[in-house]
Amino acid sequence: MNKFYITTPIYYVTAKPHLGSLYSTLFADVLTRWHKLQGKKTFFLTGTDEHGQKVAQAAQKAGMEPKAFVDQFIPAYQETWKKFEIDYTHFVRTTDPEHMRGAQTFVQKLIDTGDIYPAVYEGWYCTPDETFVTHEIGHTQKDQKSVRPELIEGPLCPSCSRTTVFVSESTYFFKLSAYQDKLLKFYKDHPDFIIPKERANEVLSFVESGLKDLSISRTTVPWGIPFPKDPEHTIYVWTEALCNYITAIGYGNPAKQEEFKFWWPADVQVLGKDIVRFHAVFWPAFLMAADLPLPKQLLVHGWIKVDEQKMSKSLGNVVDPMALYDAYGPEPLRYYLMRQLPINQDGNFNIEELETRITADLANDLGNLLNRLVVLAAKYESMALHAPKIWAGAAELDLRDESLNTIQEFEAFMVDFQFHHALARLWKFIHQLNVYFHTQEPWKVAAKDPKKFAEILSATAHGLRLVALLLWPVMPSKMERMLQSLGVTFVPGEHSLEDIKLGHWGQTFMLTKIENLFEKIEPKEGSSSSEVPKSETISAVAEDSFIEITDLTKIELRVGTIVACETIEKSDKLLKMSVDLGELGVRQILGGIRKHYTPDELIGRQGLFVCNLKPRKMVGLESHGMMLIAQDANGKSQLMDPAMVVPNGTRLQ
Ligand code: MSP
Repeated sequence: MNKFYITTPIYYVTAKPHLGSLYSTLFADVLTRWHKLQGKKTFFLTGTDEHGQKVAQAAQKAGMEPKAFVDQFIPAYQETWKKFEIDYTHFVRTTDPEHMRGAQTFVQKLIDTGDIYPAVYEGWYCTPDETFVTHEIGHTQKDQKSVRPELIEGPLCPSCSRTTVFVSESTYFFKLSAYQDKLLKFYKDHPDFIIPKERANEVLSFVESGLKDLSISRTTVPWGIPFPKDPEHTIYVWTEALCNYITAIGYGNPAKQEEFKFWWPADVQVLGKDIVRFHAVFWPAFLMAADLPLPKQLLVHGWIKVDEQKMSKSLGNVVDPMALYDAYGPEPLRYYLMRQLPINQDGNFNIEELETRITADLANDLGNLLNRLVVLAAKYESMALHAPKIWAGAAELDLRDESLNTIQEFEAFMVDFQFHHALARLWKFIHQLNVYFHTQEPWKVAAKDPKKFAEILSATAHGLRLVALLLWPVMPSKMERMLQSLGVTFVPGEHSLEDIKLGHWGQTFMLTKIENLFEKIEPKEGSSSSEVPKSETISAVAEDSFIEITDLTKIELRVGTIVACETIEKSDKLLKMSVDLGELGVRQILGGIRKHYTPDELIGRQGLFVCNLKPRKMVGLESHGMMLIAQDANGKSQLMDPAMVVPNGTRLQ
């Protein structure tokens, strides 16, 4: 069907959004835009989780009524999302009357199907996670009044390692145990239900180990939605929170049944790895009980860590996305989060890496190329670029083929939710585009061969158009600016993926000069790179270690492009690269940088290589040269590359 419904988790409103909340939400925004690009009708749902003990306690601590307490954070969420160009369709709040009614209808349905029974819950409860840690069902209720749950400290929560409290109260139980086999069958029949696979395996072994019934109401937490026909109880916060995914699109509202049927089931539900069990076990079981279809896919991402630790208020390492917005703008951060952190792993947030990405990828590779194209066209009064009737040049045909390969491979990565690989692949093409522009030297042919000049500019503009369209889901407004500068009017859906795939290498471009798309990050004052070397540094070198100029010229240093790169099974340090060294041909060179780069990050990049080193054998493979690297302040090996792309094989002098 031509629709795409995506949801994010709804966030606990005990504080303003942080980088982790932005991360979850960004995945949904990028995917929504990716599907818009394919001309689909999209619904993107996000919102806030406002009931329960955790929120009530935070409100109490602030000396406020829970509703007034949560209300104060909502503008911060909505403004942050707006600033980061998060284009959601609907923002659901679990205190919305529509949600509250819908959640009650849902629970009533479970009562009607006989999946709910009253009993007593006795055991440990983790308030920060809002989780029943043990699932013991008592038969007689202990004297509840004598037990002040918040006063008894229990074992640590297995999920978040915080202290649990003892709870003994009458509750309603959901017959989760009755759904064990049905769930296992569902996972087997839908192997792509949980992405990535590692998470699916965890869920499978959890369910296989046996499911106990689940308490779904509380009598000691008044800040919640009243349980149907028994207002002494409130609905357990997770049960009603999960319902947001259906109440927001009309579940339980007789006037919205068509709408509900149109959108449900969700195509993708995005969530962090800490809340997999709720989404992959409890939620599907509830839906099965209510006789509703299950979501098509759960996309589980890892955590963003800071200094290798999870962000938390107590550690004081929570990153405020608005501070990053002020310092770098929204789109570079969007790009960094999608490019740097693989979805299936935890990733470390690192400001230096963010700055490097901005300078190297965005300002140098992309913004600079657009700028050079437009400036050169303006110099020779060629702002209107017409494509030749037939593309005949080998370099242009290669570039066109490569652009078509790029689309295909980019799409394959996006379909697999491998955003960082998709972007690395796109950057490989951007590097090729830079190499093309440089090696064709349009500034040299402008005067003597205007036809060739126009052809080179046109081919470059075609390449940049493709880049802007594919990058639009990640950096929407910057890419719209870039398309404007190329004279392309952008209408998402009109430039559908199918349409983009056709290549359209017969476009006319009408270039316009725009302000720089991205600004380089200047080295901060006091950092070594901004300092001019002082004379003492030279005199500190012992005279007997000086070398003659002839010693230096013995070393043949050249620029090359890494055209292929792969890991070596027998080595966790080395990468095997094929390096195009121009007149020297393509050589196999091994580099000890596996810990710092993935092959995808290197393919297409230029580097500096020692080319006359005696061939060396390592792990059974010969290396015909050496790559130059330097360690940055964090000990990460950085590939040394020329500040701008130069022809392969160029000698350093
Ligand atoms: N309210 C529940 C979700 C209910 S959905 C029906 C909840 N809220 S939360 O605010 O604690 O977390 C919401 C999401 O933010 C989760 O997907 C969580 O993984 C994500 N993140 C919170 N901190 C994070 C990081 N440091 N890194 C990445 N995402 C993390 O759980």
